Amino acid sequence: MSERLQKVIAHAGIASRRKAETLITSGHVKVNGEVVTELGTKVTSADEVKVDEVPISKETLVYYLLYKPRGVITAVTDDKHRKTVVDILKEVPERIYPVGRLDYDTSGLLLLTNDGDLDNKLTHPKYEVEKTYVAKVKGIVTNDDLKQLRTGVVIDYRKTAKAKTKLIRTNKESSIVSLTIHEGRNHQVKNMFEKIGHPVEKLSRETYGFLDLHGLQAGEYRRLKPHEVEELKELSDNTKR
Ligand code: URA
Repeated sequence: MSERLQKVIAHAGIASRRKAETLITSGHVKVNGEVVTELGTKVTSADEVKVDEVPISKETLVYYLLYKPRGVITAVTDDKHRKTVVDILKEVPERIYPVGRLDYDTSGLLLLTNDGDLDNKLTHPKYEVEKTYVAKVKGIVTNDDLKQLRTGVVIDYRKTAKAKTKLIRTNKESSIVSLTIHEGRNHQVKNMFEKIGHPVEKLSRETYGFLDLHGLQAGEYRRLKPHEVEELKELSDNTKR
C-alpha cells in the first residue's frame, strides 16, 4: 500500500505530521537516494526513506483484539478528553489505531493494529468481513421483522445487503436479537433496527470473521496469534465481493 511521505515519517515517530512536511519541503528527506520536496509524494514499504541521511525505522506490525467496554470512544485521541480505545492499550509501544469503529455506547470486539494495509482491506466495502452483533431492542420482534432485516431495509436511499438473524429471546417489552452483517455503514445496526420500529437499547459486537470474545472481559485485550493474523489476511483476500 502506498502512503503519503509525511505520514510515513510521522508514523516512524520522528516528527509530527506538520514537522514532517517542513522536513520534506526544506530538502531533508530522501527517497531511494533522491531528495524529495513534493508533499504529495507516495511511498510504499519497499521504498527507502531517509531523514538527514538516517533511514527511518519501520515499525513492527502488531495486531490486538480488544473487548471494548461501553463509554469509550473508538479513536486515537479525543478533543473532548473522553477515554479512547487506544488509552486502554497504553502499554503497547507501537502506534496502533482501531480497525473500523464501534459507537461510544456499543461494546464488543474491536481490532487495533498499525498495519495500514490490513486495516484498508478489512474496512473496504468491497472486502467487508462478517460481523455478528447482539442487540437488545425495544418491543417484541416478530418473524416478519426478522425477514425484513434479512432481505434488506432501505437506509439513506440504499438497501442493506442480505443479513442473518436469530431471535435469542423476548421479554415483556424487549427482545434480544443476533444480527450478522458484512457491511460497515455508520450506525448500521442501530439504523436497521430503527427502520423496523425496534430501536436498539444495548448493542454488542460478538464476532468479527472467525474471531470472538472468548476468554476476555470488557476492557481486556490480547495479541492476535500469528495464525489468526494470517487467517485475517486470507479472509480479507477471499471475501472480495
Ligand atoms: N452498528 C451500530 O449501529 N453501531 C455500532 O457500534 C456498530 C454497528
